[in-house]
Amino acid sequence: MRARIVVLPGDGIGPEVTAEAVKVLCAVATVRGHVLSFEEAPFGAAALSAGLPPLPDATLEACRRADAVLLGAVGGPEWDGLPPDRRPEAGLLALRRELRLYANLRPIRAFGGVAAASPLRPETLEGTDFLIVRELTGGLYFGEPRGRTTTDGQRAAVDTLVYCEEEIRRVARVAFEAARLRRGRVTSVDKANVLHSSQLWREVVSEVAKDYPEVTLDHMLVDSAAMQMVLRPTAFDVLVTENMFGDILSDLGAGLVGSLGLLPSASLGATGPSLYEPVHGTAPDIAGRGLANPTGAILSAALLLRHALRLPEEAALVEAAAERALAGGSRTADLAGGGSSLSTAAFGDRVVALLA
Ligand code: IPM
Ligand code: MN
Repeated sequence: MRARIVVLPGDGIGPEVTAEAVKVLCAVATVRGHVLSFEEAPFGAAALSAGLPPLPDATLEACRRADAVLLGAVGGPEWDGLPPDRRPEAGLLALRRELRLYANLRPIRAFGGVAAASPLRPETLEGTDFLIVRELTGGLYFGEPRGRTTTDGQRAAVDTLVYCEEEIRRVARVAFEAARLRRGRVTSVDKANVLHSSQLWREVVSEVAKDYPEVTLDHMLVDSAAMQMVLRPTAFDVLVTENMFGDILSDLGAGLVGSLGLLPSASLGATGPSLYEPVHGTAPDIAGRGLANPTGAILSAALLLRHALRLPEEAALVEAAAERALAGGSRTADLAGGGSSLSTAAFGDRVVALLA
């Protein structure tokens, strides 16, 4: 097959980790006889520094024309003082909104060989394998009104958590469809004991469940879900939740398996190109030093193969190679616990070597 992939390396460690993901994609394409073309475009702080908006029009147009978008990370400490709409992250939110990427899949799995990096006891961690389906274009990230006011010298700020039923229904369907191909269990996470939006969430998810009699649904409050993730992570199969809860719980999931550097994500809409990015951020403290863990980016490339290019065998090849690299003792610094470690590029090379 032929496919066009737009690469948005972004900021911090983004360029380093996406380079490894592209390396792995090229290698798997060669092995399996596919022709992939890559086009890089400015995005995030990299765009702002060039005097462009965080999501330049030309970048958005290139993404719309692509079969898939592979993203590194956005943000940077230089922009910390700016209001949200002028920060690099605004580019990412605009891209998610413009491409209507309402479902963000974040698989959390315990990898063989890196259990020592997890704060959990091995017997608690073992067998952990669940999928967070995070709603990505609604809730607090996008609700209106939002912003700041000053009245009689008092500063105030508002963000709005709003969902309409269709926004809940479509992401719930993604969760049930995923569960049906997994262990048949959906946990919907909300704060229905306090929030109106969560009560609607619970209602609508329960309605969608009627179309999936083979899937078991339970509801959990978000505070309790955070605790259960730590105490009994193996109890989860598919967890579906609103945007901000999903943002927080997915970093918690990364902490459970030992490193934020391990986790991939896929952001899907109903139609059009989808977006693939590691869950981690820009890690400015280690950027440009070849220390970053490219596993999350490489596994995001695997999700790209599976979901955007419909190449499940190729996706499985990449996942198996990354798992074998970790299981075989290949480690970047985040997982090495002070022991010897591989550079970002050397880890990518190891994955490529294990592809065949
Ligand atoms: C993520 C990130 C983003 C988010 C930031 C960079 C805007 O934390 O993808 O989890 O909050 O969605
Ligand atoms: Mn996050």
